[in-house]
Amino acid sequence: MPTNVAIEVEGLKKIYNGKITAVDDISFQVRHGETFGFLGPNGAGKTTTVSMLTAGLRPTHGKAIVDGLDVSHDPEEVKRRIGVIFQESTADGDLTGRENLEVAAGCFGIPGSEGRSRAKLLIDQMQLSDAADRPAKTYSGGMRRRLELAVGLINRPRILFLDEPTLGLDPQGRAGFWSFIRKLREDDGLTVFVTTHYLDEADEMCDRIAIIDHGKIVATGTPTELKDRLGGDAVNLRIQDGAPDLTGLLSGQPGVLSVQKQDGTYRVKCQKGETFVPRAVAACTEAGAAVLGVTVKRPSLDEVFLEYTGREFREEEGPTATDRAVMLQRVQGQLRGRR
Ligand SMILES: Nc1ncnc2c1ncn2[C@@H]1O[C@H](COP(=O)(O)OP(=O)(O)OP(=O)(O)O)[C@@H](O)[C@H]1O
Ligand SMILES: [Mg+2]
Repeated sequence: MPTNVAIEVEGLKKIYNGKITAVDDISFQVRHGETFGFLGPNGAGKTTTVSMLTAGLRPTHGKAIVDGLDVSHDPEEVKRRIGVIFQESTADGDLTGRENLEVAAGCFGIPGSEGRSRAKLLIDQMQLSDAADRPAKTYSGGMRRRLELAVGLINRPRILFLDEPTLGLDPQGRAGFWSFIRKLREDDGLTVFVTTHYLDEADEMCDRIAIIDHGKIVATGTPTELKDRLGGDAVNLRIQDGAPDLTGLLSGQPGVLSVQKQDGTYRVKCQKGETFVPRAVAACTEAGAAVLGVTVKRPSLDEVFLEYTGREFREEEGPTATDRAVMLQRVQGQLRGRR
């Protein structure tokens, strides 16, 4: 395997109980330093894939190589080298943030003093210093996720797996979480494999994306490539009344796919709208037609998803596994309180 490949997956498949095909023959590669997004609706097979890649679940067929190691042959070494944040919360609420980290260090066999100093560093890095010595159950959702991120980093992994890391966080919590990830990527060249429901987040954060639906990968590419495959950007040019017809002029510009005229507005479908606009404005002005206004709309990943799966991304969104886990924890908490 070339050394710049962090994760290599070939024909990976998981069939539960001999009948439920959760992951159906998927193949892809993730390069070192890349942030790779795994995008799909509920039940698509995201958590199952993460579980196989992190050596928690045995594949039914196929191969997964993580940091040069086959997850089926060296599961323990894979686990030692990677960091994972699971979809369900894993912090022990009765332990303090610091204790959670020191316990995690112990699990990796990191000696006590080294464990304590790594814990302290991560607490500072994740801005949890004020809360470090109170029980994790008193943390807000965002603080808890930051603690779990710190736990995932205690063994200084080169590859981090995040399963729905920002689910249930408010926009501020989501933005905060991603700024930590961005910094880790820049400072340490961390490779990130992330599953998410949030298309905007994937669009902004991921270098490349795979869209998974019913256990199969239906599209892979950079967010821009995926959107470009939909036939480009929609540019609207509003032109001054009484100007000459510009249909032919606009159609002749490089990258233009179609031009429609409606009242004083030309609706242009084109590749790379951002470079088309200045050229079009200059050409229109030269032809004696003043441009009064311009809008450029890029297709969103929502539209990409619709194109590849025939469904709206949000259409079948019920409570996710995380929502269910949170609900369960709440009920358990209430029951404990009553006892
Ligand atoms: N332990 C299990 N036993 C049997 N079937 C399972 C098991 N875990 C998951 N499945 C099924 O496998 C499919 C994929 O589930 P998975 O949890 O991987 O999806 P997901 O994309 O992570 O969904 P979500 O967005 O809800 O987290 C679903 O049909 C699910 O019901
Ligand atoms: Mg899941």
